[in-house]
Amino acid sequence: MNIQFLTSFSDKTQTVIIPISKSETSDALQKIAEVSGVSEGLITQDFEAETKQTLMLYPQNTTTFERFILLGFGEKSNAKTIRDTFRSFFFQNKEKLPNSLSLDLCQFSNLSNLKNSSFVEIIDGAISASILAGYDLGQLKNDRKEDELKFPSELNVIISEDQIQEAEKVKLESEIVTQAQLRVMELVDLPANKIDAQTLAKSAQKSGKKYGYKVTVLQKEEIEKNALHALLAVNQGSQVPPTFTITEYKPESLDNTKIPVVGLVGKGITYDTGGLSMKPSEGMYHMKCDMGGGATVFGIVEAVARLKLPIHLIGIVPATDNNVDARSVRPGDIIDSHAGLTIEVVNTDAEGRLILADGLSYLSKNYNPDVLIDIATLTGASIVSLGYEAGLLCSNNQETAQMLMQLGEQIGEKVWQMPIWDSYRKALNSDLADIKNYPGVPAAGALTAAKFIQTFTNKHPKWAHLDIAGMAFGDSEFAKGKSATGYGVRLFVEYLKNLKFS
Ligand code: BES
Ligand code: MN
Ligand code: ZN
Repeated sequence: MNIQFLTSFSDKTQTVIIPISKSETSDALQKIAEVSGVSEGLITQDFEAETKQTLMLYPQNTTTFERFILLGFGEKSNAKTIRDTFRSFFFQNKEKLPNSLSLDLCQFSNLSNLKNSSFVEIIDGAISASILAGYDLGQLKNDRKEDELKFPSELNVIISEDQIQEAEKVKLESEIVTQAQLRVMELVDLPANKIDAQTLAKSAQKSGKKYGYKVTVLQKEEIEKNALHALLAVNQGSQVPPTFTITEYKPESLDNTKIPVVGLVGKGITYDTGGLSMKPSEGMYHMKCDMGGGATVFGIVEAVARLKLPIHLIGIVPATDNNVDARSVRPGDIIDSHAGLTIEVVNTDAEGRLILADGLSYLSKNYNPDVLIDIATLTGASIVSLGYEAGLLCSNNQETAQMLMQLGEQIGEKVWQMPIWDSYRKALNSDLADIKNYPGVPAAGALTAAKFIQTFTNKHPKWAHLDIAGMAFGDSEFAKGKSATGYGVRLFVEYLKNLKFS
């Protein structure tokens, strides 16, 4: 995929996408009418510039333009609707359009009239969408056609001279973030028989090598030595040994200045059968997505390393499948944990919080981060609360929570804060152990889960937990069934870019 910025159209015959906003259309449409030889009246009859609406014209009075495709953006917009409109267009026209396309943003287009949007959001949206359009869910199909996969292979974006510099800067970042997002999507969409704890860890090692950051994979023996008992307990029923992957990025040039240390932990359950507290098959079908948080953490670290952000970032992903076996951890078992707390396993399907507990405890003890964040497809209850609209956020630090909510709104990956009152901790009191992993009742399920996790953060003063069960994997116009979304990568890259050390 080759994206370049030009200040005028080349002489080659071309297909041009012309984004049209609903406000002040007359100048734009007049120019289009002139070149195309179709009257403005006829164009406005068939095209109202509603969001995602398209109109194809075959210009008569020119040899440069073969096709004009007007693409509607409605009246008002935000980063997400801009991205979605472009992505929807590219996706739907994958098989219909030539591989080389021009995108006009200044000669005919009036997209700059779009309310609530900026040039950066438009460039970023177009680039991100054109890259995501190349994403192929059917990697394991026999009949995939190579040229469809590369669509569009070339995108010439027409902008004005004074915008080139900024556009090039946005492009660099947009490509990096979108590619990281693609990597997350690939990992999440791969079925569990194609990706397990071992191969997931390998994918991180490969990325670390490629982009120059440190990746250490603890194998079972080292996991035992490091007392990551809760991860080992969840892994008991598995054929595949667990991994505990530690990714670490530190900018080279800033060694002596104090920079923020950020710790991320992602849930890496490569398949969640529920264990002996087994899920019904409808509930189990999609559970390859249960390493979504882990994949997101890998994606964030990769993007941050490539962007060379001035922070010290540690991303940890404990990984295993949660399976059924004679050796599986049982409901009623009492297990140990890295933090030293004993845990009564009331329900083996509440496994994510167990491996996160070890990940958070290990990270906070060994790296002493300024901010500690976990990301996980943790509870169905978070979907009951917020649906598929926003990630469910819990935090003991209002500044962090506010920042994530505000950035999420701005970039179109929403999060919504829920309380973590101390009273939720009572529900986790066990007669037999220091804590139990499930209260036994579903009330406030996402919040008792968050409260469980918080217990293992070493009382970290700046902790945030994001439950992405409804966001990592879901229905969209880009697939027939549920598929990975890449949600969270943009949000946290944006958060880390804006992080001020205090
Ligand atoms: N992996 C699931 C949560 C999940 C649900 C992710 C739907 C994606 C979509 C998690 O491990 C789980 O099973 N949670 C249980 C917790 C319960 C047993 C306390 C749930 O939400 O039902
Ligand atoms: Mn589960
Ligand atoms: Zn799970």
